[in-house]
Amino acid sequence: MHTKNLKKFTVFPDQKLSEILKIINIVGVAFVVEENEKLIGIITDGDIRRAAIKGYSLETEAKKVMNHDYFYVIEGTSDQEILAKMPKQVFCFPVVDNDGRILGYRFFTELTKKNALITGITGQDGAYLAEFLLSKGYTVYGGYRRTSNIDFSRLDYLNVKDRIQLIQLDVTDISSVYHALQVSSPAEIYNLAAQSFVETSFNQPCLSLNVNTLGTTNLLAAVKEFCPSAKFYQASTSELYGKVVEIPQNENTPFYPRSPYAISKLAAYWMAVNYREAYGIYACNGILFNHESPIRGQEFVTRKITMGVAKIKLGLADSLLLGNLSAKRDWGYARDFVQSMWLMLQQPEPEDFVIATGISTTVREFAQKAFAIVGLDYNDYVRMDARYFRPSEVDVLVGDPAKAREKLGWNPGCTPLEKLIEMMVLSDLKQLESKL
Ligand code: NAP
Ligand code: GDD
Repeated sequence: MHTKNLKKFTVFPDQKLSEILKIINIVGVAFVVEENEKLIGIITDGDIRRAAIKGYSLETEAKKVMNHDYFYVIEGTSDQEILAKMPKQVFCFPVVDNDGRILGYRFFTELTKKNALITGITGQDGAYLAEFLLSKGYTVYGGYRRTSNIDFSRLDYLNVKDRIQLIQLDVTDISSVYHALQVSSPAEIYNLAAQSFVETSFNQPCLSLNVNTLGTTNLLAAVKEFCPSAKFYQASTSELYGKVVEIPQNENTPFYPRSPYAISKLAAYWMAVNYREAYGIYACNGILFNHESPIRGQEFVTRKITMGVAKIKLGLADSLLLGNLSAKRDWGYARDFVQSMWLMLQQPEPEDFVIATGISTTVREFAQKAFAIVGLDYNDYVRMDARYFRPSEVDVLVGDPAKAREKLGWNPGCTPLEKLIEMMVLSDLKQLESKL
């Protein structure tokens, strides 16, 4: 809801039509208020045209032409209720508090428009989120960046590539951000684009900050200018908790980032909060714990393990080199997790949520379970290699998803880890076998 610019559109009953016309030029309506900002009527450009036909001059005051029988809603009314009680399609309508004081205005198109823009569409979450939003009836726009070898394989894997609109979008390039917002005219924006690999962020800290922090800032600044009523999802991360100060971690746990990646995401987190508080942008941080799938990047430990297991089982490799086997992560299934992103943007007020399973498992246990699926003992194949240890490690992550369960109705227990590991191992076996 635009509350900041509202003053621009309010007029007083004794204000002249010539002045009101200038105001109406912007959004097509003016809200007539008393001294105490209590809404008493509306004037549209149609009202002024009708007034001219009746012979009123532009010197006429607002009270002569204002529409008393206008449509307005009380703050907090859900979109479904608004649509149900709207007498006819009203282009723009006011929102008032319980005392009738005007708080803002909304557009009819916001209620029905279902365009979503996903940045980072070629990534794991981009593909699953596109699949989910399509199932909800959205028109999905997906931002991808130019690389020497553009990879849409995840979109193909989920059979969504031909059902979405692809837009070139590099979040570090503000002009491409403007263009993507203009083309997609989104009601919801999901900012998933990131340099998301923690290990790489130690070698490319500036790039990580550029994409993850400045990229997010580019988007938020553009949203503020061009589509301030769009809802914004920021892909925040459990890496913010880093060297954890409490177990489990919830929305109130202090942050202690341990990598350039986490630091870049922490600044982006606060940027989203700041745009929410400073400009009233509907921005939510989803603090998601690790989530995996058969289309997870092969540099991440889970997929590295399941692909390693498949190669060993098929005789294509004889060992698997890993780093810190004692690290603990709260691993869930990406397809379950992306649903929470959408749920966050359907709430009456924007808030931040922890999304996690609440169960933490070591890398060693993960490997043990993955090898067991094909009847092998991980001890016979896994070797420790110092190259995969990090300069500063996040030892243990385990999230408390109570708030998401209660407020969003999101179910953290959707897919058990054993089932996820099995799905990933079998998928990697199938993929490799098809190439033999
Ligand atoms: P991912 O597979 O690495 O996907 C990242 C996406 O960002 C890719 O589409 C990538 O494009 C794109 N990207 C990178 N730099 C970009 C740029 N400059 N402009 C536009 N797009 C760019 O990551 P994911 O696992 O899907 O994660 C999605 C988001 O959630 C990320 O922000 C990640 O940090 C965050 N997150 C992930 C997890 C998790 O466990 N998966 C947990 C918490 C938070 P290319 O294909 O061209 O590289
Ligand atoms: N990648 C990798 N490769 N990690 C290894 C290896 C290895 O060979 N051996 C041990 N690990 C350990 C890492 O040191 C880390 O403690 C853990 O396995 C998980 O590493 P990753 O799978 O690379 O994920 P991550 O936890 O660092 O980051 C992922 O989750 C974050 C949410 O907590 C990424 O998806 C981030 O983008 C995301 O924010």
